[in-house]
Amino acid sequence: MRNTLCIMHCALCIVSLCLAACDSGDIVEQEYSTAERGRTVKLTATLSGVDTWESRYSVSLAGFTTGDNYAQVVRSLPNTTADGTRVELVLSNIDEAVNTVELAITNRLRERIITLASVNLEDYADTGDTIRMELGHVDVSRFGALQMGLFNVACIQCHGGNGRSAAGLNLTGGQALANLVDVPSTRREGMMRVVGGDAEGSLMRQILNEGGEDILGYNHTEVLSSQFKENLTEVRQLIDDWIKGLGNRD
Ligand code: HEC
Repeated sequence: MRNTLCIMHCALCIVSLCLAACDSGDIVEQEYSTAERGRTVKLTATLSGVDTWESRYSVSLAGFTTGDNYAQVVRSLPNTTADGTRVELVLSNIDEAVNTVELAITNRLRERIITLASVNLEDYADTGDTIRMELGHVDVSRFGALQMGLFNVACIQCHGGNGRSAAGLNLTGGQALANLVDVPSTRREGMMRVVGGDAEGSLMRQILNEGGEDILGYNHTEVLSSQFKENLTEVRQLIDDWIKGLGNRD
């Protein structure tokens, strides 16, 4: 009996290893089916900005284990996905080791760059049904990813609208861009919050990086490092890439 159980267990391991190793580039349904095992998450959304990412990045539905920035399982959209496309991504046979399933930007190594939306599988421990993530319209461009994955989660509690904007900076959706780019700082004379094309010269970038702890009266480096434990380097890189990309505007 023991041996049989062991063999069954190994067979399941092989299934999950295969899942973890399958190429992330395609959206073809997986051929094998072990419906009795593992969770299934289905994402539906209407996306824009997928085609703004270079080929080394993907917009993905990905399963992560807490503490590990590399996805256990990933399904990615082709970067040719046109604006306004309604997409449906299904992750099935999700292993028990996976704690969260996320709409995320990932790189070729399956590393999480930033999370746009997430479900915690523990919240669904009692249901065996497919878990649905229905997100409506989502802008997954680099700036859209920063809005959802950075400003909405780590900044707007202080930099919100309705007169609750610390330093007069409103980082809510639809406002952040105009409040940041080429806007003079209200706190550091002679500096811009974000200088289009110049990451190093941008106050926002400086206060979120090492060495930026004391630039303002509030330690923003700490805000970032406490929020992004697994992907701090990647989020910082994303901010840099976004600011540098602004230099390419007309
Ligand atoms: C807990 C509250 C809090 C959070 C969270 C917070 N900030 Fe701030 N922020 C402040 C305060 C307070 C100031 C003004 C500091 C001062 O007067 O020196 C400020 C100032 C700034 C400034 C300078 C604005 C200017 O005009 O000079 C920028 C840029 C900024 N924050 C960006 C961010 C970003 C980006 C995030 C999210 C990653 C964030 N902040 C999260 C409280 C916060």
